[in-house]
Amino acid sequence: MSFRTSLNLLVSAAAAGITAQYCDLPASPQWAATPDAPLALPMHNWTSLKDFTHVPYEGQHLVYGSNVNNSTYGSMNFGLFKDWSGMANASQNGMNSPTVAPTLFYFAPKSIWVLCYQWGPTAFSYRTSLDPTNANGWGPTEPLYTGGAAGAPYGPIDQTVIADDDNMYLFFAGDDGSIYRSIMDIDSFPGSFGPNATTILMDTTENLFEAVQVYKLKGQYVLHALTKWLMIVECEGSVGRYFRSFTATNLGGNFTELSGLESNPFAGKSNTKITWSQDVSHGDLIRSTNDQTFEVDPCNLQMLIQGHGPTTAAYNDIPWYPDLITLQNPAPMQYGGGSSSSSSMKTTMTTKMSTSTSHSTSTSTSHSTSHSTSHSTTKCPAPSTVTHTVTPSAKTVTVTVTHSAAPTPTWYQN
Ligand SMILES: *[C@@H]1O[C@H](CO)[C@@H](O)[C@H](O)[C@H]1NC(C)=O
Ligand SMILES: *[C@@H]1O[C@H](CO)[C@@H](O)[C@H](O)[C@H]1NC(C)=O
Ligand SMILES: *[C@@H]1O[C@H](CO)[C@@H](O)[C@H](O)[C@H]1NC(C)=O
Ligand SMILES: *[C@@H]1O[C@H](CO)[C@@H](O)[C@H](O)[C@H]1NC(C)=O
Ligand SMILES: *[C@@H]1O[C@H](CO)[C@@H](O)[C@H](O)[C@H]1NC(C)=O
Ligand SMILES: *[C@@H]1O[C@H](CO)[C@@H](O)[C@H](O)[C@H]1NC(C)=O
Repeated sequence: MSFRTSLNLLVSAAAAGITAQYCDLPASPQWAATPDAPLALPMHNWTSLKDFTHVPYEGQHLVYGSNVNNSTYGSMNFGLFKDWSGMANASQNGMNSPTVAPTLFYFAPKSIWVLCYQWGPTAFSYRTSLDPTNANGWGPTEPLYTGGAAGAPYGPIDQTVIADDDNMYLFFAGDDGSIYRSIMDIDSFPGSFGPNATTILMDTTENLFEAVQVYKLKGQYVLHALTKWLMIVECEGSVGRYFRSFTATNLGGNFTELSGLESNPFAGKSNTKITWSQDVSHGDLIRSTNDQTFEVDPCNLQMLIQGHGPTTAAYNDIPWYPDLITLQNPAPMQYGGGSSSSSSMKTTMTTKMSTSTSHSTSTSTSHSTSHSTSHSTTKCPAPSTVTHTVTPSAKTVTVTVTHSAAPTPTWYQN
């Protein structure tokens, strides 16, 4: 969508007087494990179920994940289940061709399901299907990202993708304190992001580790320079793995911290009160749509996580199981106008330029912490084919429009 189209949409939304409701994200989320026990145990003598990706599917839950079988990573899906209590008895279907640490979504512009994953022929790969319930019905492997991640000991790890109206964005981690981003035109997707990525967040390895996920926040008011996109990143902690959060007003722009380190996490041991698990680790917020927008509703926020009990196992042999955590303190529901109190409103929009204008954004957050981690941080041996080429590929510029008066409350929603 062009800048002009954005404006037209805004104008027509204003004319239609569309309103909607939304919740901001709480600055200090409080969760409960619901239930405080694993939702399912591995079948087939597998060691673990992990790295979950979830979509709502025809009124039921569709979950894919990684599994470990006799120290070897594979992937699987669960048979559809209606209520979370049904996950325990849902079938667990191993995949003949592994899609480790998967990301599942419906790409609406082309009416096709896409499953992205790591450790295929290139750093990240994808496969497509018309029937995502069939674990072994996915098409051939295609390259999603062919580059590397400078400084990442095991190469690029834990991809996610998300779209706005114009672009597809790839975000990934490197077990190295960096979060990376690559951008491509939405019209070229499904397709490859190519070999280039930009480092967009940098911290210590402990404080930005892996399992990055990015979501659209349901109902956020587009004219306000409000939080519109949420990023969560798994960190190593002294107690256990936990998530930090960041927000942005556009996916090609800067992400700034919302919830912080282990003492005030987005989700961790301290603010979930989970007892059965040491860690609150790699998972997926429960989305309100199944499509490329990865929309979540902060009025009703839940997250499918992986956890484990006390263990001395090496990292790859940890018996990870799924559980659900539910936000206990959603912010008050708001209607129409957003939470900005300023009468001078800033609109931040991203518009594609036909010129070669480019910049790379980089936010550096630093914290003095001294974490001692209680378990191995190794996920897998370094793939031998990793190339460490990371070059800026940002192709967006930010246009800032200042309005002198508060406009009629308008909503722009997909
Ligand atoms: C698990 O791995 C073993 C080999 O270690 C293999 O024989 C078996 O078929 C696998 N089972 C499943 C369900 O993947
Ligand atoms: C597990 O893998 C090891 C090493 O590859 C192999 O020796 C062993 O037979 C496997 N166990 C099973 C139950 O397949
Ligand atoms: C189940 O897995 C364990 C550990 O890998 C192995 O010792 C055992 O032989 C396996 N059992 C079967 C039936 O494969
Ligand atoms: C799951 O299956 C077990 C054994 O077949 C049964 O005891 C249990 O009630 C079932 N649980 C649910 C939630 O259906
Ligand atoms: C990747 O970046 C390099 C260096 O800036 C550039 O020469 C190359 O054209 C880029 N490749 C793609 C596919 O964008
Ligand atoms: C993003 O952050 C960088 C570094 O803090 C800053 O220089 C830049 O102006 C920011 N960009 C936007 C669009 O806010």
